Amino acid sequence: MTGRDNVLWLQCWRDRRTDFHQQTVNRLLTRFWPSLDLLPGSRVFVPLCGKSLDMVWLAGQGHDVIGVELSPIAVRAFFRENRLKPVRQQRGKFTLWRHGRFSILCGDYFSLTRSDLGQVDTVYDRAALTALPEDIRRRYVVQLKLIVPETAQVFLLTTEDAEEKESSGQAFGVAEEIKTLYSEAYEIALTHVESVFEIDPESPDHLPERTEYKVYRLSTRADSR
Ligand SMILES: C[S@@+](CC[C@H](N)C(=O)[O-])C[C@H]1O[C@@H](n2cnc3c(N)ncnc32)[C@H](O)[C@@H]1O
Repeated sequence: MTGRDNVLWLQCWRDRRTDFHQQTVNRLLTRFWPSLDLLPGSRVFVPLCGKSLDMVWLAGQGHDVIGVELSPIAVRAFFRENRLKPVRQQRGKFTLWRHGRFSILCGDYFSLTRSDLGQVDTVYDRAALTALPEDIRRRYVVQLKLIVPETAQVFLLTTEDAEEKESSGQAFGVAEEIKTLYSEAYEIALTHVESVFEIDPESPDHLPERTEYKVYRLSTRADSR
């Protein structure tokens, strides 16, 4: 991650350009998370968490949630909008905001260490990997392996442009990029694919395009431990 990327994200929050934020809990999360069969009380890491309501749902399932987020505006908004009064502590390069089941480390994901994060049983990634520029995504995965125990699974949601992939014969299956990034260290299970025709507001012709929403479950390969 470059300093410039961080400046752009901080500016997004200052300018309230946060279209990525979902006003409701992600329905693929609520539908497919229960199949992970996690123990109540297990701890979920939410990288690049923004002010996602998915964290509220996860806590409602009995999980302790630890997020990391660059923007203090996002972290403050998360607690305020959910009517929670957090306690703040400086922890090295991070500010830790805590209330009940929620802990959010405010700072740069790429500076996190395993001890900053503590125990993690599962990672929930929605619009974290895919929020990053393509050339930074490998670093994101390398960093994830460094800071999260090998026993942790990753529940990954992606949004893929199906039309672009169809021409290269990649639609419906595990995306090439996901294989390239994760297959060395993780077993990849594609749990669900959903095709939707959507209009991209940024496309010049405003014609509907086919998008695929995918749910992946990644577990560390025994031979990479
Ligand atoms: C596309 S948003 C997704 C937020 C959240 N996962 C959601 O589903 O709403 C990406 C978030 O990552 C944060 N972010 C970007 N780079 C980061 C970094 N290096 N460390 C921590 N947070 C970062 C941004 O501020 C932004 O809130």
